[in-house]
Amino acid sequence: MKTLVGPFSQLLTMEGLPLKGALSDSLMKVITGGALLLDGEMIAGAGSFEELRQKYPDAELREIEGDSVCMPGMIDVHTHICWGGSRAGDYASRIAGKTYLEIAGEGGGINVSVRGTREASPGELLEGLRQRALRHLREGVTTCEVKSGYGLDRESELKILRVINQADQELPIDLIPTALCAHIRPFDFEGTERQYLDHVLEEILPAIKDEKLAGRADIFIDQGAFTKEDGAYFLGKASDLGFRLTVHADQFTPGTSGLAVRAGALSADHLENISEEDIDFLAASSTVAVALPGCSVGLGMKYAPARKLLDRGASVAISTDWNPGSAPMGDLLMQAALISAAEKLSSAETFAAVTFRAAAALDLKDRGFLKKNMLADFILFPTGDFREILYNQGKLKPSRLWKKGMEV
Ligand code: NIG
Ligand code: FE
Repeated sequence: MKTLVGPFSQLLTMEGLPLKGALSDSLMKVITGGALLLDGEMIAGAGSFEELRQKYPDAELREIEGDSVCMPGMIDVHTHICWGGSRAGDYASRIAGKTYLEIAGEGGGINVSVRGTREASPGELLEGLRQRALRHLREGVTTCEVKSGYGLDRESELKILRVINQADQELPIDLIPTALCAHIRPFDFEGTERQYLDHVLEEILPAIKDEKLAGRADIFIDQGAFTKEDGAYFLGKASDLGFRLTVHADQFTPGTSGLAVRAGALSADHLENISEEDIDFLAASSTVAVALPGCSVGLGMKYAPARKLLDRGASVAISTDWNPGSAPMGDLLMQAALISAAEKLSSAETFAAVTFRAAAALDLKDRGFLKKNMLADFILFPTGDFREILYNQGKLKPSRLWKKGMEV
């Protein structure tokens, strides 16, 4: 039994838009009086409400009243939302003038969350994750990547990834786990950074693989984390183990996104300090550039040069980096609106960055567009004009949403 949902004042399918480069709004096909035909979890058709209604007279009708803009459910490709404890102390120090790296050097930073997360029981972690994931879903995020990286020993990393997998099973939102065991060398590891990475490669990633807890691996390469040499070493070995790659790159110092491209990473994330040379290198590759405006806001630092990346031909996704330290806000729509205003991104570029270009960063081929044979993941905004969405700077939230064909 098929279901017809519509009419929408405007339907943005994102269909036909290219994976890379700048986009003007006029390239975006806007179907006035559009509708979606659903078949179970999937989309069976997208087009004019009147035409679909005539063609499928037996479809069950879910009539939409009032103004609505329909677009694909948003995809957040970079979060750290499974954590214990609080970093309000770090934040207070930062707004009083200390830098992220100074605070980390004085025993604050990621290690505070490592302690808090190790102390938390699986049930406590699950509850925190559930609340954040459900808030994300209510705000229009239908797929969300979640990293480990606050355990940083074998048992704690496994604990976090089991919790993420359990939440994925229990909640309507899709959660995509990533092993970020190479976040930093934790405070209690006795040995060098390289020895810690070897421990991750020999003891932790194989266990994650055996339990099928994650198919993706990430590493933070920067001052205070891992060097480029260690990073290149890790990426090669993690890939040999069968993990798809993503990298925390060029956040404070340039020179890492090129490494991500050479390693064949799906995405290079952060990029606040990417070099001119690496902009071109990244733009010529299939690695998606992921901007994390929530981290720029959280640290009071500049945004990734999204405009330049797009003009030079890169594929740009926008994600929250939602984490207890550098990016506590976790509001994808608001952050997308903020970076679009600062970097001069069109609605088409901004929506692409949270839909099909984000899907590419996770190598998910079944979502990001509203067309036949894609998942029926879509959101409705209570307006008749898509330009109102960014104009309201994140305060116009989706009023209704469907995940895998079911209204949530
Ligand atoms: O993406 N840059 C490194 N990792 C996280 C921050 C994690 C933290 O401070 O807890 C990030 O910003
Ligand atoms: Fe991050």
